[in-house]
Amino acid sequence: MKQTSPIIALDFASREETFSFLNRFHGKKLFVKVGMELFYQEGPVILEQLMERDCQIFLDLKCHDIPTTVYKAMKRLARFGVSLVNVHAAGGKQMMEAALEGLEAGTSAGQKRPSLIAVTQLTSTSAEMLKDELLIEETLLHTVLHYSKLAKQAGLDGVVCSVHEAEHIRQTVSPDFLTVTPGIRLADDDKNDQMRVATPSYAKEKGVSAIVVGRSITQAIDPVQAYQKIALEWGGIRK
Ligand code: C5P
Repeated sequence: MKQTSPIIALDFASREETFSFLNRFHGKKLFVKVGMELFYQEGPVILEQLMERDCQIFLDLKCHDIPTTVYKAMKRLARFGVSLVNVHAAGGKQMMEAALEGLEAGTSAGQKRPSLIAVTQLTSTSAEMLKDELLIEETLLHTVLHYSKLAKQAGLDGVVCSVHEAEHIRQTVSPDFLTVTPGIRLADDDKNDQMRVATPSYAKEKGVSAIVVGRSITQAIDPVQAYQKIALEWGGIRK
C-alpha cells in the first residue's frame, strides 16, 4: 500500500468540531485518523458518521494489554469497518499475535480484515527519554528495528514509526512492510511535543507507506491550503 493522500489526524474534542473542520473540504474524500480523544468522547458512532461522509479510517487506539484482552478488543474493532488499527509492539509478540487473531475472528466472511500495525517507539520519544526514563540502553533505532521484526513475525502488516527509521525497517524486515509515519511537519512548523519529525518531501524520499498529519493541518490558519501543500510535497498530487 502506498497511501497517496496524507492521513489527517482528527485530534478534536467532539463531533461538532470534527465536522466543522471536515466541512471546509467540501465533501472531498479523505483518509482520516480517529484517536483516543475523539473516540472516547463520541464512541463508535463517530466512525459510522465519518464513513457516511466517505472517509477512510485509521482507528488509532494503540491497544496494549494482556493478550486475551487485546484479542477481545480487536474482535470488537473488526466490526467497525475501519481500514487500519494498531497496537503497541511493547506488548510483545504474543499480544500482537492475539490482536491479529482477534481481528480475523471479528471480520465477517466476505469483509476485508482491517490492516494491523504496531507502534514501535512513539515519535515523541527521544533517545534521552529512552535511556533515562525507560532505562533502555539500546539505541532508538535498534529498538525500533527489533519491534518491527517482532511485529512481522507475529503476522502484522506493518508499523508506526518515524520517517527516520522507515528505510531501515523496509531493508531489515521486508520491502512491502507498511511504514506509517506521524511526526510530519512542514519546514517552518512548530514541532510541538514531537521529537523525531520530518517534512513530507523527506518522507517521500524515504519511501514511507503513509504519512499522518495532525496539527500542521488542523491548527493551520487555512487547513485546506495546508493539506494541499502537504499532499503536493508528499504525493505530488495537485488537488
Ligand atoms: O499533531 P501531530 O501531527 O503531531 O499528530 C500526530 C498524530 O499521530 C497524533 O494523533 C498522535 O497521537 C499520533 N501518533 C504519533 N506518534 C506515534 C503514533 C501516533 O504522533 N508513534
